[in-house]
Amino acid sequence: MKPLVAGNWKMNGLKASLEEAIKVDEAYEDRLQEAVDVMICPPALLISAMANQVNNIAVGAQDCHAAQSGAHTGDIAAEMVVDAGGNAIIVGHSERRADHGETNETVAAKAEAAKRAGATAIICVGETQGEREAGDALTVVLSQVKASIPSDAAASDIVIAYEPVWAIGTGLTPTVDDVEEMHTAIRSTLNERFGAGGDLIRILYGGSVKPGNAAELMAVPNVNGALVGGASLKADDFKQIFAVYG
Ligand code: PGA
Repeated sequence: MKPLVAGNWKMNGLKASLEEAIKVDEAYEDRLQEAVDVMICPPALLISAMANQVNNIAVGAQDCHAAQSGAHTGDIAAEMVVDAGGNAIIVGHSERRADHGETNETVAAKAEAAKRAGATAIICVGETQGEREAGDALTVVLSQVKASIPSDAAASDIVIAYEPVWAIGTGLTPTVDDVEEMHTAIRSTLNERFGAGGDLIRILYGGSVKPGNAAELMAVPNVNGALVGGASLKADDFKQIFAVYG
């Protein structure tokens, strides 16, 4: 399947940062377009401008509200993301689960909203350091996968991003064996749910993906791309990551 490398800018970037997205767009030449999908998820206020200024890469959002409209001050609806030119929405990032108390149920409702609006939901899952040390990583992550996918989702509606919480922004990464074990287990869970359709769902790895480790991580079986935080902010770093598929 065609891998996806998505950049998550988090709460970083002003209008001037669109320059970086334009550089990424220019570096994503024909040969790479055939090999890998590339996306940037900027802060919501930049989605529209970015979508207008890039030609080849996709643009996504970092979150949405479950409802289509209403009295939800400060929130944005999935329909607004699509209206602004986004075609995917990250839901359930660990920072949202931790900082905003999002549960698997909230995340499933947001993924449902993405589908309603016609956007792909990039559903994030991942264990904390304590959960891994206690030997609970598989149990925690697989239960997040099961409970965060909406009940009427189709395989083509979703992407899963496995991001160990302790690897995000820390420079630490799991061993390739640990990544393979987790991604293989997630694949089995998707196959239980979707049958052979589960093979079509991209499972991204995220957490301290950098130019120096991308080739090794992206070569792991059942790793179908990356969700990249810090290293997506600079075009020079980000393009080295998706260029591993070139
Ligand atoms: P990082 O973030 O690449 O900076 O570790 C990844 C993410 O949180 O999506």
